[in-house]
Amino acid sequence: MLTKKVALVTGAARGLGKAIAEALSDAGAAVCLNDIDSNLLESTAAGLKKKGRKVMVSAVDVADQEKVENMVSETINRFGRLDILVNNAGISPKRDGQKIPFIDMPKDEWARVLDVNLNGMFNCSQAAARAMQHQGGGHIVNISSVSGRLYTALTACHYITTKAAIIGFTRALAGELAEHDIKVNAIAPGRINTEMVKMVSFEVNQKFRNQIPLGTFGEPHHIAQAVTFLVSPAAEYMTGITLDINGGMFMN
Ligand SMILES: NC(=O)c1ccc[n+]([C@@H]2O[C@H](COP(=O)([O-])OP(=O)(O)OC[C@H]3O[C@@H](n4cnc5c(N)ncnc54)[C@H](O)[C@@H]3O)[C@@H](O)[C@H]2O)c1
Repeated sequence: MLTKKVALVTGAARGLGKAIAEALSDAGAAVCLNDIDSNLLESTAAGLKKKGRKVMVSAVDVADQEKVENMVSETINRFGRLDILVNNAGISPKRDGQKIPFIDMPKDEWARVLDVNLNGMFNCSQAAARAMQHQGGGHIVNISSVSGRLYTALTACHYITTKAAIIGFTRALAGELAEHDIKVNAIAPGRINTEMVKMVSFEVNQKFRNQIPLGTFGEPHHIAQAVTFLVSPAAEYMTGITLDINGGMFMN
């Protein structure tokens, strides 16, 4: 389905990013995997290389604009084009498995979360959109969160702020980039079983579980399948949407 397409997935060493990169590769795309954890990144890429897939890695911080621009250029040099960007890299710092209250939040931690979750998305999207504009089209998928959709007392203000902003950013880009046939959509996952969720205390996760009508957390492939759909021809008339995948935790 994605044969001859080229994808770049940020935060792809583990969790949702890894599952998304694998799903796009399974669908036939050549994939550049990005992450700051270079060791884990190499081992994730090795799994795909073993299957004979077209893969490259880029161990850069998405918050570093110059390095992101180089990453996009290197992807195009290696694979000839860039059709799909998945802005997945994100952080949600915790203290002993709990959120940091606003009153106690250090300014540098607030700034770092905005830098990775929002400025990283700006950097990657701008570099990718400039390339896609010359090619005559492409797809950008932004990973938001159910935390951007509703208030939960269990989640910290920096993370909630960035995940809500991603939904507005997605709409703005979808509108501006439509004339270049660049589709921009978001996914707002609920609680998905990854390291990010495992960092949270059992008690907090239990409170989340109690709010989910389907009764369980999701799995990374639930999100990866949705990304693959959004970048497929089946979704050609979709842009500017935020797809909620949360077991019923938030219903719009
Ligand atoms: N797991 C969930 O329940 C859940 C729910 C809603 C939204 N999300 C979002 O999905 C995305 C992935 O989450 P996850 O659960 O897989 O998290 P994770 O912590 O398991 O993985 C995130 C990956 O991003 C990488 N990363 C962090 N900072 C980076 C940076 N500056 N540059 C490049 N890579 C960086 C990490 O090294 C890690 O490999 C995040 O944006 C997260 O906010 C996750």
